[in-house]
Amino acid sequence: MHTVAVIVGSLRKESFNRSLAKALARAGKDMLSFTFVEIGDLPLYNQDLDDNLPAPVVRLKEEVAAADAVLFATPEYNRSIPGVLKNALDWGSRPYGKNVWGGKPAAIVGISPGHVGTAVAQSHLRSVLAILNMPLLSQPEVYMMESGRITPEGEVTDPSTLSFLNVFLKRFAEWVAITGKKI
Ligand code: FNR
Repeated sequence: MHTVAVIVGSLRKESFNRSLAKALARAGKDMLSFTFVEIGDLPLYNQDLDDNLPAPVVRLKEEVAAADAVLFATPEYNRSIPGVLKNALDWGSRPYGKNVWGGKPAAIVGISPGHVGTAVAQSHLRSVLAILNMPLLSQPEVYMMESGRITPEGEVTDPSTLSFLNVFLKRFAEWVAITGKKI
């Protein structure tokens, strides 16, 4: 079974995006093996440290390197991605020539209390993942509006939501199988 590093773009304890990621990990456990990779302990990126990476960065890079693919579950902050997520992406991309994200198939999901459902942030994230050389699942896009259908533990209480998430998971598993280790 292919392994997936899950990156959540929110550090909030009761993050809806973490709940969504947990829901996907639960629903998809027979298709993919999910491991959550934490980004809250990373220092702010500083190029001076490229030759002497801080321990949390080494840990991040090892955990991402060990995975076949990456799933991003992120909120939208002021019509873009949260700084903590960009920070993690920047660390993983350096030092030059040692981009840990490169070639890993990826997918993006997001949930928000607002109607936009993280669509603008996901669009920005797609641009960033392109320069990082991550083959990105195009469809289905997962823009969710928060409405109490996923518990904090990742249980999906609404059958149509679960059915949609299962379609996404099946496509993502196929995408990882097709594109993994080929770029
Ligand atoms: C937000 N929020 C938000 N929502 C949205 O749909 N579009 C946006 O541009 C923003 N901007 C924004 C900026 C900042 C700094 C914060 C803290 C929040 C609201 C956001 O969607 C909401 O707080 C979510 O609950 C955040 O996701 P998590 O932490 O629940 O995963």
